[in-house]
Amino acid sequence: MNNVSYDLAADSWGDEEVAAIQDVIASGRLTMGPKVAEFEAAFAAYFGRKYAVMTNSGSSANLIGVASLFYRKNNPLERGDEVIVPAISWSTTYHPLQQYGLKLRFVDVELDSLNMDVGQLEDALTPATKMIVGVSILGNPAALDVMRDFADNHDLIFFEDNCESMDAELGGQKTGTFGDIGTFSTFFSHHISTIEGGVLTTDDAELRDLAKSIRAHGWTRDLPEGTSLYEPRDEDFFEAYNFILPGYNVRPQEINAAVGLVQLKKLPQMTAKRRDNLAHFQKLFGDDERFIIQRENGKSSSFCFTMIVKDDRQRVMKMLTDDDIGFRIITGGCFPRHQAIKHFDYTLVGEMTNGNLAHDNGFFVGNHPFDLTDEIDHLRAVLDKC
Ligand SMILES: Cc1ncc(COP(=O)(O)O)c(C=O)c1O
Repeated sequence: MNNVSYDLAADSWGDEEVAAIQDVIASGRLTMGPKVAEFEAAFAAYFGRKYAVMTNSGSSANLIGVASLFYRKNNPLERGDEVIVPAISWSTTYHPLQQYGLKLRFVDVELDSLNMDVGQLEDALTPATKMIVGVSILGNPAALDVMRDFADNHDLIFFEDNCESMDAELGGQKTGTFGDIGTFSTFFSHHISTIEGGVLTTDDAELRDLAKSIRAHGWTRDLPEGTSLYEPRDEDFFEAYNFILPGYNVRPQEINAAVGLVQLKKLPQMTAKRRDNLAHFQKLFGDDERFIIQRENGKSSSFCFTMIVKDDRQRVMKMLTDDDIGFRIITGGCFPRHQAIKHFDYTLVGEMTNGNLAHDNGFFVGNHPFDLTDEIDHLRAVLDKC
């Protein structure tokens, strides 16, 4: 046994976050209000997008994002449309697509980047294709530039689920800003933590307004003056409860936003620390033939360190457990392998060879926004014993 414990997830809060929560409680305003608006403005500014809409989770950001695309005026999504998706992502990348009656076309991932193999986009395309969902896995940018061009060339919507890759960059552009909609998660242990939370970003005012209405009951109350969504009546009594869309209630709370404002300020330093740890991990494992680690595309914000082993993962996992090193499957694994898939209308674009290999032989260990040199050295020593 050793005295280095290496956890999968870690807290990134300091006293400032606790003080921000106390201020919210003292203010008496706990439900969605001015702090959420302030966080949205700061988030949009940091990522260079026109609009941000905060939600209670990244999953909810995906849900209201997909819903909004069904209600826009021009070229809306329709039930039965096809959507190109990667084989590996989190369950709630896919679930809203199923819930809105879309058909999924799964494309395998590249084994080294773990992101969608964009060389297969042409094969995935059919006359029914209406949207691509791009996901950058665990901080490592997908070929978002290629997906953006492909979407533009074929008149497709580009939806970017960036819930795992806040602050990553490709060609100097932040991930989460390539799509018509880009979503983020601020769940505990993500790049910033607001306990639970998510953000939808877009440059399209109509999509922002749709998302704001669908986020809160489908009402008009949070919409800006001059919105294109409806004609307000000159009657406050009626407008206070005017429902224009089939919405949900997936609002965040003031506490989430207040903490988010503190965390957003710390994000550049936290990403820098994650990247220092990544450099050390790459140095120790980059040339090690026993493992496939993620090949960095652009600038990763390194959520964690993935490894695919060539032989017995079971044996490796036992060693990690015995030595107190946390690990888990890569994101949600290869999604068509889960029982939930029986509820989906989907086709596979060829074999999911790499997705399956990552599912069967892969795992990840944590990366955190502080120095992990000892932990990564310890990981190396444990794996050398295997
Ligand atoms: C790719 C992806 N999409 C969506 C989500 C959902 O985010 P949340 O946990 O905030 O609901 C996650 C969660 O980590 C994710 O990895």
